[in-house]
Amino acid sequence: MDLFEKAVSRNEGLSALSGRTHGIATFPKLRGDIGSRMDFGGVTRLVWSLNNYLGLANHPEVRRADAEAALKYGLAAPMGSRMMSGETDDLEALETELAGFVRKPAAFFLNFGYQGMVSLVDILVGRHDWVVYDAHCHSCIIDGIRLSGAHARSFPHNDIGRLEKVLEQVERRRSQAEGVLVITEGVFGMSGDQGRLRDIVALKERFGFRFLVDDAHGFGIMGPDGRGTPEAQGVEDEVDLHFATFAKAGASIGAFVAGPADLIWYLRYTMRSQVFSKGLPAPIVAGNRTRLRVIESGGALRARCWSIAGALQNGLRAEGLDIGETASPVTPVFLRMTPEQALAYLELLREEFGIFCSAVTYPVVPPGVVQLRLIPTAEHTPDDVERTIEALPAAYAKITAESSSVCAGSAMDALTKSP
Ligand SMILES: Cc1ncc(COP(=O)(O)O)c(C=O)c1O
Repeated sequence: MDLFEKAVSRNEGLSALSGRTHGIATFPKLRGDIGSRMDFGGVTRLVWSLNNYLGLANHPEVRRADAEAALKYGLAAPMGSRMMSGETDDLEALETELAGFVRKPAAFFLNFGYQGMVSLVDILVGRHDWVVYDAHCHSCIIDGIRLSGAHARSFPHNDIGRLEKVLEQVERRRSQAEGVLVITEGVFGMSGDQGRLRDIVALKERFGFRFLVDDAHGFGIMGPDGRGTPEAQGVEDEVDLHFATFAKAGASIGAFVAGPADLIWYLRYTMRSQVFSKGLPAPIVAGNRTRLRVIESGGALRARCWSIAGALQNGLRAEGLDIGETASPVTPVFLRMTPEQALAYLELLREEFGIFCSAVTYPVVPPGVVQLRLIPTAEHTPDDVERTIEALPAAYAKITAESSSVCAGSAMDALTKSP
């Protein structure tokens, strides 16, 4: 069979729904300056979809730094991979600053979070090692594990009892030469709950594993100083490798991993996505240095984001909506709906209530559940929150008026009972 025909005829997962969702729930076009108000379909909407937690996408100091760096460097520099011809003073300075920020001896700036994580896991473990990871980990972690060929065991999301059991099994099976890496996330980007870093750290002495935390959604926003979820949970020293990305609160691109100096040095020379790929353009590196400074002094922005998140989450809960176990600004709303209803719901929210948010359906969540994902930012206002708290249940009532579906409660049950 022709390979292309075979691929297209598979038409599975989200691609099976794409005929109906394209341009609405998938690949929607938001136009204009990035912020809480953007144009969708020619009309200004209140936007809750962007990981712009601190509002840095349009922060004046950040925009100025980006523009000046673009003028100064253009997009060509640096040419080549860092190892061969692309190393710069700015990259080294950014890494020193990042290491200082997350309180690790050294840091390595990565071209992209996804590729960076894939390579990081791939190089850390091999066929004679073990990886134990939270079942809800991001696909870049899963892909890295697959590529590495390491023995892999997952534990149910945030289930420390099961993690302990898995580690006991690994302990029985592994040889002296085989190492163990445990991976979880600081903040889970879809559900907003935190990884149980403190509980995992408590198992380190007994099982002697290394601990990697992907804090993509915690960087800049979690902890009193925004250093991330390890700071928030008081376990910065015990997390061996701290990974985060600039693609969320940083409103940019690029990522980093921070940890012991000798290991970080080794990673510089071995991570394939870094060694065999051109470094990110110089304006991005310069722009990220500015972002880091704004994040470091960003107490007021953090407080604004958290205050909006608190108001939104309390208000949605008070309306009886199921927002799961979030412990971060990420605000999921679980509703019982068919995919058709979900699409109609999103359209209604946008067209009638002027609210733009993202949603996922099966296969990302169990059949019969739709998950909205709202991201409060420092740019949203209490009025935005009020409007949204009223709109979400009102639109739901309209969509489900003719069916007997029930809102909330049961949707989360469906999620936790899913495999
Ligand atoms: C937990 C986690 N890790 C890694 C990534 C990838 O980061 P990037 O967008 O920088 O490639 C994401 C992005 O969605 C993420 O949520």
